[in-house]
Amino acid sequence: MSEKKKPQARSVQWFGRQDIYGFIYRSWMKNRGVPQDQFDGRPVIGICNTWSELVPCNSHFRTIAEHVRAGVLEAGGFPLEFPVMSLGETLLRPTAMLYRNLASMDVEESIRANPLDGVVLLVGCDKTTPSLLMGAASVDIPAIAVSGGPMLSGKYRGTDIGSGTNVWSMSEDLRAGKITLEEFHEAESCMHRSHGHCMTMGTASTMASMVESLGVGMPGNAAIPAVDARRNVLARSAGRRIVELVKEQTPLSKVLTKSAFENAIRACAAIGGSTNAVIHLIALARRIGVDLTLGDWDRLGREVHCLVNLMPSGKYLMEDFYYAGGLPAVLRELGENHLLNRDALTVNGKTIWENNRDAPCYNRDVITPFSKPFKENTGIAVLRGNLAPDGAIIKPSAATPKLMQHRGRAVVFESIEDFHGRIDDPGLEVDESSVMVLKNCGPKGYPGMAEVGNMPLPPKLLKKGVTDMVRISDARMSGTAYGTVVLHISPEAAAGGALALVRNGDTIELDVAKRMLQLLIPDETLAQRRKQWVQPQAPLERGYWKLYFDHVLQAHQGADLDFLVGKSGAFVPRDNH
Ligand code: FES
Repeated sequence: MSEKKKPQARSVQWFGRQDIYGFIYRSWMKNRGVPQDQFDGRPVIGICNTWSELVPCNSHFRTIAEHVRAGVLEAGGFPLEFPVMSLGETLLRPTAMLYRNLASMDVEESIRANPLDGVVLLVGCDKTTPSLLMGAASVDIPAIAVSGGPMLSGKYRGTDIGSGTNVWSMSEDLRAGKITLEEFHEAESCMHRSHGHCMTMGTASTMASMVESLGVGMPGNAAIPAVDARRNVLARSAGRRIVELVKEQTPLSKVLTKSAFENAIRACAAIGGSTNAVIHLIALARRIGVDLTLGDWDRLGREVHCLVNLMPSGKYLMEDFYYAGGLPAVLRELGENHLLNRDALTVNGKTIWENNRDAPCYNRDVITPFSKPFKENTGIAVLRGNLAPDGAIIKPSAATPKLMQHRGRAVVFESIEDFHGRIDDPGLEVDESSVMVLKNCGPKGYPGMAEVGNMPLPPKLLKKGVTDMVRISDARMSGTAYGTVVLHISPEAAAGGALALVRNGDTIELDVAKRMLQLLIPDETLAQRRKQWVQPQAPLERGYWKLYFDHVLQAHQGADLDFLVGKSGAFVPRDNH
């Protein structure tokens, strides 16, 4: 019987050539001291690095890359590190999300155009995880994501403070006159005191947990602190393992299955994860060819409780989470309660259940058992109604229970600048029962769907002791934020959604149990207002902003660019000379 012929590795079509092209492909690589025998057909592994001084959360990635490189060499591979556009949440304006799809194009084209057989994706700050995964998915070669890990816990005057979460609370305390400017400045240095990404269960930690629960990262990926030596060990083992994945011919699509996404959605509910995961996972699924919708988020999250007592929903931080057992302890709880697709394959070659079934928990105050959860029924809730015919979301674990069924009069802000211009005005007609409405902050409207949905409360209400109000918008919210905040209203105002038609004084009803968000005005009035609505112009008439404005999909479709949905595969482009 003839043995089935293995397809030729991609890299051999560069380095295995014995002609003028082979000379060109090899000779320039030799300028760094690569010997001839390294072009013997061994797997060539790209180390896709998002190191940048403009992305503080990924500032240690040169070190991580060195550990991946060591692992690749140990396993007999040929490592080649390359940079891609990196997206930092804190500095990029108008929002890092505007550039997620652009970065994913850089990743996709960099992988396909080069002699790579497999890739290790170094991800950390929020958007670096989805952009690299999305780009790799559209090529669909073997890939492992390695997260950079969270920072150590913030420590301020004897208390733990968390990235983002305490920024929101301290800035509100400053506005309310409860702390001084000096204390505010001191807290800045106390909060972010080591390498790593935000150490609350914000978007970066959520996405690192998604990497692990999707099976596209090594076990333990979610929580090992950035500065813990075990993070480097994980990077090294990923380097070793990617070489095997290439030899086994396991493309990303064998790992990123519907089962894997279902596991990730349940894991997101069990960790009280960021609402941003909704949009990123839908975009990723649509790249790899998995049918995933908002309906899946609502359906799968309904049975799940939050097991993790971490900010912003709880009080601990990622460092505590790791020492308590990390995500493996959570996945074990899900598996034992029939909420895990146990057979889903992961990149270490084992199933998710094989990896996690014996995971220990060392601190039940940080990771609660499913039978006695930290918070009950905390999956992302998907709301619909005339205000959000294509859906909107709310994170119940971060909301105030008594506000989850609420009726109030709209206080409307046409843009975030309008909001900032009026929110401090003592004459603003608003009380604690009002519903704050923010428009034009969606994908097209901002542009890029900024994290401004958790509008700060009016100072006059803060001074009265009000801590939460219903807020609705087409924006996103930082994963470190909290409150009764309805987000991702689809279609957005700038695309002609009913949100654009809300006026001051209209009554809005929110009922999370009934999954409803409704503007209580007659249909005829809505139709009248629609006739007067004027579509906004693109914010710029050229360049990437224009491309984005013309092609971005709505939030419920993952806010990808329409022409990027799907994959083009790992074909080898024609010769270059
Ligand atoms: Fe980078 Fe939060 S700012 S993860």
